[in-house]
Amino acid sequence: MSRALPTAMRTTPRLALRPFHRRDADSLVEAVWASLPELSRWLPWPHPRYGRSDALRFIRDSQAAWEEGRAHDFALRSHDDGLTHLGNISVWPTSRREQAGEVGYWVRTDRTRLGIATEAAARVLQVAFDEMGLHRVVLRVAVGNGASERVAEKLGFVREGLLRKEVLVGGTWLDHSLWSLLDEEFRRQRPSYVQQGWLVGRT
Ligand SMILES: CC(C)(COP(=O)(O)OP(=O)(O)OC[C@H]1O[C@@H](n2cnc3c(N)ncnc32)[C@H](O)[C@@H]1OP(=O)(O)O)[C@@H](O)C(=O)NCCC(=O)NCCS
Repeated sequence: MSRALPTAMRTTPRLALRPFHRRDADSLVEAVWASLPELSRWLPWPHPRYGRSDALRFIRDSQAAWEEGRAHDFALRSHDDGLTHLGNISVWPTSRREQAGEVGYWVRTDRTRLGIATEAAARVLQVAFDEMGLHRVVLRVAVGNGASERVAEKLGFVREGLLRKEVLVGGTWLDHSLWSLLDEEFRRQRPSYVQQGWLVGRT
């Protein structure tokens, strides 16, 4: 389960998902800056001085994690604009024995509500279940983050419960809801992912 995956680009009808390169640093910084209020509301890492050194550190760590099979971070780009960074999506194993993993994502604020997170997550779930051989994937969503809850619902995740004061964001401990999707649920729903236009391929 922890072996490295191929670094080939994965695609959806509208998106390219690929591992990070050093040359992505500037476009990553630009996207973080363009999204800072929304990102820093829900995630612990964005900060007002986020800059090139932060982006380069993230990319270096991301490349090492990919090689070691610890995590797979994908840069999101559209097919018709390879330069603008649309956001990040990651999948990582959390337990080898339980064949479990987790997904996390963000989308730049001026491209939200276009279905990008849902489409990217559908493709990353395919990576999780088909390539990583996972049995269960979870998503943790801060309470009040209606957009991310909606992404979980659209993809058929099941809400399992509440994780109290789980992540420290801007000096406040945020409760999170825990959502999960099982291998058999993904396989049952895959045809509808294709019908919705989130995945290419057979229904
Ligand atoms: C959460 C996030 C990834 C969603 O990205 P996105 O590309 O806009 O997501 P999608 O367009 O695929 O779906 C968003 C859905 O939420 C809905 N939505 C948006 N804002 C909402 C809100 N405040 N309350 C409820 N629903 C909301 C949209 O209408 C859409 O649903 P619909 O397709 O049924 O109309 C993006 O807003 C983001 O990056 N936020 C900041 C970081 C973050 O929260 N990351 C996730 C941590 S778990």
